[in-house]
Order: sequence, then structure tokens, then C-alpha cells
Amino acid sequence: MTTDTDAGNAAEQDAFDALIAAEQRIEPRDWMPDAYRRTLIRQISQHAHSEIIGMQPEGNWITRAPSLKRKAILMAKVQDEAGHGLYLYSAAQTLGIGRDEMTEQLIAGRAKYSSIFNYPTPTWADMGAIGWLVDGAAICNQVPLCRASYGPYGRAMVRICKEESFHQRQGFEILLALMQGSPAQREMAQDAVDRWYWPSLMMFGPPDDRSPNSAQSMAWKIKRFSNDELRQRFIGMLVPQAEVLGVSLPDPELRWDAGAGRWHMSEIDWTEFHEVLAGRGPMNSERLRARREAHEGGAWVREAAAEYARKRALRRPAVAEAFEGAA
Ligand code: 3HC
Repeated sequence: MTTDTDAGNAAEQDAFDALIAAEQRIEPRDWMPDAYRRTLIRQISQHAHSEIIGMQPEGNWITRAPSLKRKAILMAKVQDEAGHGLYLYSAAQTLGIGRDEMTEQLIAGRAKYSSIFNYPTPTWADMGAIGWLVDGAAICNQVPLCRASYGPYGRAMVRICKEESFHQRQGFEILLALMQGSPAQREMAQDAVDRWYWPSLMMFGPPDDRSPNSAQSMAWKIKRFSNDELRQRFIGMLVPQAEVLGVSLPDPELRWDAGAGRWHMSEIDWTEFHEVLAGRGPMNSERLRARREAHEGGAWVREAAAEYARKRALRRPAVAEAFEGAA
């Protein structure tokens, strides 16, 4: 259930504007415009769903990781993503939306989550490419969110970013090991980079002139940089790392344009992006099916946990009275 807030009077609006202007945090107790609340719920819930759905492409490789050490690292990484989802759902809950409602929106196919998780992971090298490119893009996008104006979101992002840095390094290290291996391993690594490069650039969202939410989100200091600015920063991070790895980035047009002070690149295939957003990416239906089944299969765990909490509460006399009064 989404909380209705009053429209706010001029003094409340002024106090909100002053907090934003002074780089102070808005907290759940503070008055905030309805549109600010709705924007945060939209972004944070989409972000939480991305973390949860994002467990699937890599979860696919836990049983097949090439060594015990790789398996343990991958398992820890996928568990981290579950944790990120939980912090983010909790941050969204402080805005008045329930976890059940968000879950319902996701499994009914009404909620967005990141386009990137609708691509398949056919080889072990995909684990390297996801870590290096997808988690790398996540870091570029999410480090500035540590300074988001909404307190619970910004604070959740601090720990998430620390963990994403580890994820990015483990992906880089997987690719480095493959690139130092046999010709077949090098080919596998390059193939994975070729497949994940463009989708990872799409993660930053549509170009600035086609991003309906950016201007307002930046004015509210939720977003600190535009989609294109972050995409540029990401390419700047990748280029020297690709050299160290010995992989090529699959864009013949890519070069630093010193005059313009930016990376010149080929046009991104935005038709593909919109197809994925419309549910027609290579793995959209599989991702939702798996999430729905996990939710249904976990019903007994939720019931057991609720019953356990009820019984524990009944052991505390004051709470027992409340339960009896309600019965
Ligand atoms: N995938 C799916 N939808 C996307 C998208 C993407 N890559 N990029 C943009 N969109 C959607 C937006 O959500 C918006 O939809 P809506 O208006 O219906 O809600 C629409 O496209 C227009 O885009 P805008 O640029 O106007 O939207 P935003 O201002 O919200 O910017 C964003 C999009 C940059 C993704 C921003 O919401 C954001 O920074 N979100 C937080 C980070 C996040 O959610 N990352 C997802 C990846 S999580 C992850 O990487 C996990 C890690 O473990 C790898």
C-alpha cells in the first residue's frame, strides 16, 4: 500500500527545498512532495528487483564453476546480490510501500528491472564478463547514489558499492585467467566481452535527450550525473582495463575525441533496448518464470517464519495481551 501524503503547505515545501539545496538528507520522518516519494519508490523498487533477478544469470553457474574456490566466490557474490535486494526493499518500505506489493508488481510482470539481466550466460567466461562489465557499470552508476538526497537510499548504497567493487574485481580476475590460458579460453573470454559490452552500455538508460526522468531526479539530487555522463565515465574506466586484459572492445568507432573531450562511439542499438524493456529480450520470460516459481515455492518458508514470530511474541506478556485483545 502506498502512503498518501498531503500536498504540503508553502512552509513544508520551503523546508524540503532548503534541505535539498544545503545537501542535507531527506529522512522518512520529513515532509516530501508526493512526486519525490513516487520517483524514489519507482527507482528504488526497480533497483531492488534488479538485484534479485540479477541472481539468476550467475546462479546458473554455481553448480558448474570450474573449481571449489570459484564456486565459493560465485556463491558469495550471488548471496551479496540477495542482500542488496533486501536493503533496497527496506529503503523503499520507509517510503510507505509494502514489500508484498513490490513483489506482486514484479512477479505479475508490471515492474521494471534492469535490461541487463535478460541475456543468457552460456559459458563460464560470462561470469567474468558480468563481473567486469555489469558490476563495473553498476559501480559507475551507483557510487554517486551514495550521495542521493534520500537518506535510507544513500546509506544502503554505501555497503552495496563496496561489495560491487569486489564483484568487479573477481570478474576481471576470471577474464584475466582465461586470457592467460589456451587459445580456446581466450576466444571464450573475447566472445563473452563481445556479447556483454553493448548491453552493459544500455544499463545506464536512454540518452539524455530521451530520458524523461533525469532532469527532475537531478534537480532533487537523487541522480547526480546524467545517463550519458555516466556511460562516458564507464568507457573511460574500461579502455585501460581492456588493454591489461588483452581483450578488444567491440566498437570499431571507439576513440577519444580530444576536441570534444569525450569518447566517440558507434550508435547504441536502442531498438534492442526497447525490445528488452517491452519483455521481448532473450531471457525475459525465463527470468520471470523462475522468480514466480521461487516465490510460490517459498510460501511455506514465509508461513513458517510468520508463525515462529507469532509464537515468540506470545511468550512476551505485553505482546500476548495485544494478540489476545485483537483475537
Ligand atoms: N533497464 C530497464 N529499464 C531502464 C533502464 C535499464 N537499463 N534504463 C532506464 N530504464 C527505464 C527507467 O526505469 C524509466 O522507466 P519508468 O519511467 O517506466 O520507470 C525509463 O527507462 C526512462 O529512463 P530514465 O533515464 O528517464 O529513468 P531514470 O532517471 O530512472 O534512470 C537509471 C534510469 C539510470 C537505471 C536509474 O533509475 C538508476 O540509476 N537506478 C539505480 C540503479 C539501478 O537500478 N541499477 C540497475 C542495475 S542493478 C545491478 O546492476 C546489480 C548489480 O549486482 C550488477
